[in-house]
Amino acid sequence: MSLNYTSILLLALTAVASLHAEETEVKEPAIPTSALMPITPQVRQILDARCVMCHGAEMKGELIVKEDIDFSTDAAILKTLPNVNIMLEVIGDDDMPQGAKLPRPFRKDAQLIAELDKLKAEYEKKGEKAVLMDWLTKAK
Ligand code: HEC
Repeated sequence: MSLNYTSILLLALTAVASLHAEETEVKEPAIPTSALMPITPQVRQILDARCVMCHGAEMKGELIVKEDIDFSTDAAILKTLPNVNIMLEVIGDDDMPQGAKLPRPFRKDAQLIAELDKLKAEYEKKGEKAVLMDWLTKAK
């Protein structure tokens, strides 16, 4: 097969198009956690009620800080949350709090199971995801 001018041009255009496609797949740059500050009282209340249970509070006398991420204070968030992107992912996909599991030693604790079920139900009922997404998407 011989390549004429048109087919060379087409090949070149295809190459440029695929380069461009790859470019758009590149991950968004990480948004620094500091962009989430200051935290409004409304967001603070949600973090306290729905997240701190497993990220910065004691559960039956044992401090639980899952994935080393601590939401208990603004200073702790600044220190332990790697970036905003990770939050956009887990809140956007309903991984947290909906997919959150109790720490292994407490998985059969009826009281904690009930507490976690209630936490998830209230989060849904009060539309708290929208509040968190609003907070996160405004961060730049
Ligand atoms: C019942 C315990 C529990 C609750 C409540 C909870 N988490 Fe988690 N979280 C976990 C566990 C366990 C992990 C570790 C991995 C996993 O299950 O995804 C985790 C991981 C994470 C991660 C890291 C994910 C990653 O990809 O590295 C983030 C961010 C996070 N949680 C945010 C939150 C936020 C925000 C809330 C509240 C809306 C919350 N979590 C509520 C248990 C919890």
